[in-house]
Amino acid sequence: MQIHSAIPALRTALQGRGRIVFVPTMGNLHDGHIALMTQARALGDTVVASIFVNRLQFGPNEDFDQYPRTFDADCARLRTAGVDVLFAPTERDLYPEPQEYVVEPPAIQHQLDGEFRPGHFRGVATVVLKLFNIVQPQAALFGKKDYQQLMVLRNMTRQLALPIEIVGGETVRAGDGLALSSRNGYLSPAERSEAPRLYRVLTQLRDAVRAGARDYAALEREASGELDRHGWRTDYVAVRQQTDLQVPQDGNTPLVVLAASRLGSTRLIDNIEI
Ligand code: PAJ
Repeated sequence: MQIHSAIPALRTALQGRGRIVFVPTMGNLHDGHIALMTQARALGDTVVASIFVNRLQFGPNEDFDQYPRTFDADCARLRTAGVDVLFAPTERDLYPEPQEYVVEPPAIQHQLDGEFRPGHFRGVATVVLKLFNIVQPQAALFGKKDYQQLMVLRNMTRQLALPIEIVGGETVRAGDGLALSSRNGYLSPAERSEAPRLYRVLTQLRDAVRAGARDYAALEREASGELDRHGWRTDYVAVRQQTDLQVPQDGNTPLVVLAASRLGSTRLIDNIEI
C-alpha cells in the first residue's frame, strides 16, 4: 500500500490506475470502515482510502482534539483489506490557507443532526468535494450508519454533476446490535452495556410501523421517552422519508427511523430503514 500526504505526489501515484474507488474516513478504523474497503475492492481497479480528521465539520464544543488518532494500526488494517493507496494529508496539506470557499448544503443541513451540530454538514460537504477533486474517483463509498451524511453527499454529487457513483454500505454492528463507531471508545463499561438500547428502541419503532402504526409523532415520543428513562438525553428520534429525509407525506415512500442520543458525554447516532 502506498501512503501519500502531499496532493501532488498522490495525483502522480493515481495516474493510469483504471477505475478508482474511494473510501474517505477520519481513521480509528473498525469493522464498519473495513467492510466499505472490502466492498470497494469489488467495484474497481484501484482502492483509495483517506484518513483525515476534518476540523471544519466539528463544532467549537465538540471532540476534535480528543478524536482518536490511531494511524499505525489503521495502516495495518488497510493493508490487510487490500487498499492500494492511502491519502493521509496533514492540515497544512489540505488546508494550506483558510478554506473560505465552501459547499453550503440546502435546508436539510439544519435538520436532524444538523440542528444539534450547526455547520457540520457544510464541513462534511466541503471536505468531501475537495477530496473528490484531489482523488478524482469514479465511485465513492459511504456508510448508511451516517444516513443524513450519505443523503447530503448523494444529492451534492447529483446536483453538481460530479462524474462519481455514490455507493451506500450497510451498517456494521456489534453482536449486541450497537452500531460500530469510533465514538464507542468513549463509553465507560456501564455505558457500553446500556448503549445497545438505542438499536433496540429503533427496532421496536420499526416493528410498530411495519405492523401498521401511523402516528409517527407518538412513536417518536415513546421511543425518546424510553431512552431518557434509562439515563439518555435524546436529541431526536424521527421517522422520515429515505430519499430526502422529509417528514412522510403519503403512505408509499420508503421510510427510515433515525435517532441521536447522549449517554454521559458520548453522543451516539443510529438508524434503520423500514
Ligand atoms: P468516519 O466517521 O471515519 O466514517 C467513514 C465512513 O465509514 C463513513 O462513510 C461512515 O458512514 C462509515 N461508517 C462508520 N461507521 C460505520 C458502520 N458501523 N457501518 C458501516 N459504515 C460505517 O464519516 C466520516 O468519517 C467523515 O464525515 C467523512 C465522510 C470522512 C468526511 O470527513
